[in-house]
Amino acid sequence: MPQVTGNLADALATVVGSAHVLEDPELRAPYERDWSGRFGAESRLVVRAADASEVAAVLRMCRDSGVAVVPQGGNTGLVGGSVPRGGEVVLSLTRLTSLGEVDMTTAQVEAGAGVTLAVLQKHAGAAGLDAGMDFAARDSATLGGIASTDAGGLVAFRHGTARARIAGLDAVLGDGSVVRRMSGLLKDNAGYALPALLVGSEGTLGVITRVRWKLVVPNPERVAALVPLDSIEAAAELLGILRTRVPSLEAVEFFLPEGLELVSSYLGVDPPVDGAAVYLIVEAAAPFDPTEELAEVLPEDALVADDTASRRRMWRLRESHTEAIAAAGVAHKMDVGVPLTALGEFLAHVPDVVAALAPEARTILFGHLADGNVHVNVLGLDDDGDAVDEAVLRLVAELGGTISAEHGIGIAKAPYLGLVRAADEIEAMRAIKRALDPSGLLNPGVVV
Ligand code: FAD
Ligand code: MLT
Ligand code: ZN
Repeated sequence: MPQVTGNLADALATVVGSAHVLEDPELRAPYERDWSGRFGAESRLVVRAADASEVAAVLRMCRDSGVAVVPQGGNTGLVGGSVPRGGEVVLSLTRLTSLGEVDMTTAQVEAGAGVTLAVLQKHAGAAGLDAGMDFAARDSATLGGIASTDAGGLVAFRHGTARARIAGLDAVLGDGSVVRRMSGLLKDNAGYALPALLVGSEGTLGVITRVRWKLVVPNPERVAALVPLDSIEAAAELLGILRTRVPSLEAVEFFLPEGLELVSSYLGVDPPVDGAAVYLIVEAAAPFDPTEELAEVLPEDALVADDTASRRRMWRLRESHTEAIAAAGVAHKMDVGVPLTALGEFLAHVPDVVAALAPEARTILFGHLADGNVHVNVLGLDDDGDAVDEAVLRLVAELGGTISAEHGIGIAKAPYLGLVRAADEIEAMRAIKRALDPSGLLNPGVVV
């Protein structure tokens, strides 16, 4: 294996080829700023590895040179964990795109960490199966990033978060050791579950190079509905009814009038409904047509979409929130989880909590209702906006929620971890970090 005897860039080039070591500021730039535009700094260089052995060599060279590494997939993360804080090497995993044949006995497939969600969806579809995960960043978000953040998305209610979809993975840990667990066994409790520890570790313990993904059997008949409601309490009540009386339920998402207005004007469309306090997008899918099952419990003014084109139009109103908000400015994005019993109180209080500290700011709330997962987006904050983040996250903690439901802690929420995790737990996390990444090579400043 090549040794670092002089310049780190030259040494890395012997591993990945000089075309994949980017030192030119213009070439580095897209890797140095996050999707939201809020986070990022200059890197020392960007290195694009092509396989697990290159990843291992890059990590060893960076460790020997005392230079920290920021693992990066599609760079769609929203908590600042995928971009440098200043002077690190960005290790891009997007070239790890190998994709195995779907194993039809287990309904599992092996895929490189750089395979995007959209590619996995297509690959699974060609075998008559489905990825069991979906969200708007599907064309760029990679399986390595999805595993590392334990991403959720639009059908987590039905199929779980990434954790539920991952049957195994390969990774190179911060200390250079390799974890290989690709057997895909349903039952395997031989010792500590290291792959489970890597899921959701946000690039701080190891670099995931390959995953074994559990696919699901798709339901061919699908119907969506846009449901206007008078209050979040009415939404929570309807959710309970849907959950217990609609076995084909796949997703229950929500947005509010401010979001609908912003998205409609961003997309240049007339909102198909208005005048409500809350809007839900409900989707049911089954081997039979679920329209009747759904219609039985929905209010009469719900708009039903039972063909692909009208379902997509409906979903655009929800999925385009992220883009519409980004087009309006650089938002502080807080992805939180709140017990459903406290959701009404949370949504009612958040705008006041924000307004008390930043009267000019604009608060847009939307999210995955069935998961109690609210995306709090605050536009118009200046550089001192961190007080707003803290106040919102404190409210979440007081209500028994979590400061991160699906995006991760990253650097955005690292200062607030103590709001929802006891000192002993954080110390246990630090002990794990020290054990697996003793030199602090991987993603410093993220999580703990
Ligand atoms: P990156 O952004 O590159 O990295 C994310 C984190 O994972 C970083 O800490 C990074 O260091 C680490 N990492 C990346 N690859 C690896 C690897 N191979 N090994 C170790 N660590 C690694 N998220 C949801 O959960 N649900 C949603 O519904 C959702 N919708 C989104 C919609 C839009 C429009 C956008 C822009 C983002 C959305 N996200 C959502 C957030 C984001 O897409 C996810 O967090 C996704 O999992 C990130 O994948 P990525 O490949 O872009 O990872
Ligand atoms: C979503 O659910 O649309 C995402 O998690 C992205 C966001 O929070 O903006
Ligand atoms: Zn989300």
